[in-house]
Amino acid sequence: MKTFKKIVLGGAALVVVLAAAGLALTHQGEIAPQASIPTAEFSPQQIAKGKLLAAMGDCAVCHTAPNGKTNAGGLAMPSPFGTIYTSNITPDAKTGIGSWSFEAFERAMRHGVDREGQYLYPAFPYTAFSRVTDEDMKALYAFLMSEPAVENEAPKTTLNFPYNVRRGIAAWNWLYLKPGVVKDDEKQAPEWNRGAYLVEGLGHCSACHTPRNGLAAEKTGADHFAGGSAEGWDAPALTAKSASPLPWTKDDLVTYMKTGFSARHGVAAGPMAPVAHGLGQQSDEDLNAIATYLMSYRDASAAPGDAEALIKEKTATPKLALDTEGYRLYQGACMACHRADPSASTFGVRPQLALSTSLHAESPDNAIMAVLEGVQKPAHAELGTMPAFRHALSDAQIATLLNTMRAQYGVAEWSDLQNKVSKLRQQTAAAH
Ligand code: HEC
Ligand code: HEC
Ligand code: HEC
Repeated sequence: MKTFKKIVLGGAALVVVLAAAGLALTHQGEIAPQASIPTAEFSPQQIAKGKLLAAMGDCAVCHTAPNGKTNAGGLAMPSPFGTIYTSNITPDAKTGIGSWSFEAFERAMRHGVDREGQYLYPAFPYTAFSRVTDEDMKALYAFLMSEPAVENEAPKTTLNFPYNVRRGIAAWNWLYLKPGVVKDDEKQAPEWNRGAYLVEGLGHCSACHTPRNGLAAEKTGADHFAGGSAEGWDAPALTAKSASPLPWTKDDLVTYMKTGFSARHGVAAGPMAPVAHGLGQQSDEDLNAIATYLMSYRDASAAPGDAEALIKEKTATPKLALDTEGYRLYQGACMACHRADPSASTFGVRPQLALSTSLHAESPDNAIMAVLEGVQKPAHAELGTMPAFRHALSDAQIATLLNTMRAQYGVAEWSDLQNKVSKLRQQTAAAH
């Protein structure tokens, strides 16, 4: 009995000691506000470079609310733990980061801690930004601090217990944050290393393209780039697991990043559209470097395959009776734009759906999202838009249509499809 009590008391004391140590260890001090922005330290070249880096890092994509001013914050980001709002990162002293010294900015980017010492949620991809060089970090700071200051109080993030205890993120960081600039791999060429730096650092490609564990941290090893999710969309595997009917070549990747479209695969729609928009501003050297790095996740020696032959093979002969409902829906709603005859294209790109990753993927989500939402904000205006069919087609019609297309393209039908359409329709209803 006595020993039992001792153990219990000892255990309780240990918990108290650990908690106190935890509080002490996770304490981050405030970094004093700066009185004025050190604009004299910024060169025009540095600011121009920072602008490109900001496009690479999609800062404005997350830090701008719908119809809001650039970088003034307030975008609602749904997470499994509740809604997180992005902050105002314009140089406004009161509501933005105007009072942040470079030291404070760098601590946020590398360690996910704000100027006052509060831990930031990893919905802000600092695990990737942490890996950026000092030089690039300074250019980013110079650019952001030279943009117009916008006074805008972004909504406060209030998650439920225990996620509202920001100190808890210290434990998450201890497990998953690996600060330090992306290291060169000496066995690889400089181009590959440059690509690795951009992809794993500012590009934060894995934030969407890698599956996450129960604590919302990216899985590692063979799961790196094995496919993740973003805003109801699937971010497809960028590895050999890819479901794209034709293998991705280095040139395909460069063209897709540069223009938001690859005739051999399709468009960058959904959350990839603004990412592709930012990529389109990068230099050809950097896009080639990214493609070189990404190709090392697949079989670079695979034969590219013949796009025209494959389209013919998949579309020349109808696989089902032409008067079935699925074909009628396709002819009525889709064929005018997506027909297999390229000369029929009048304006915008008309992706060949017979080659689209979305229609060949294991998950139907992207095909459903494309039909429900259309493509309202393409990566670049020249790509053209696609109307939303949310109000034109029922769940059953969308399911019949998509599974008929699957059958035509020679892929197994998606199971339980109507329910999946219905779920995604509900999930995205708020935006309409
Ligand atoms: C995927 C969305 C996303 C992207 C991309 C993103 N951020 Fe953020 N960022 C956030 C969120 C969400 C927060 C707020 C986190 C919180 O409140 O805990 C944040 C917070 C910050 C903060 C802290 C501001 C404050 O007042 O506490 C800074 C600085 C910042 N981001 C800079 C950047 C820069 C620079 C880039 C581009 C290189 C960038 N962010 C890209 C989502 C993003
Ligand atoms: C905000 C989330 C997000 C980020 C960040 C992101 N992607 Fe994507 N990506 C997606 C989604 C979603 C799709 C599917 C788009 C579609 O089907 O139209 C996609 C599609 C792609 C595709 C086409 C894959 C296929 O087989 O069709 C490539 C290639 C790609 N992304 C590369 C990148 C690279 C390179 C980066 C980093 C520079 C990146 N992505 C960052 C969400 C993201
Ligand atoms: C008015 C013309 C038009 C109609 C009608 C149309 N689309 Fe589209 N669709 C487009 C354009 C243009 C794009 C490329 C958008 C962009 O990114 O700029 C596109 C993109 C897509 C994509 C994404 C392809 C990819 O490469 O990942 C899918 C899937 C799709 N459409 C399916 C359909 C289906 C199914 C229908 C019928 C219900 C349909 N579309 C009707 C014009 C159209």
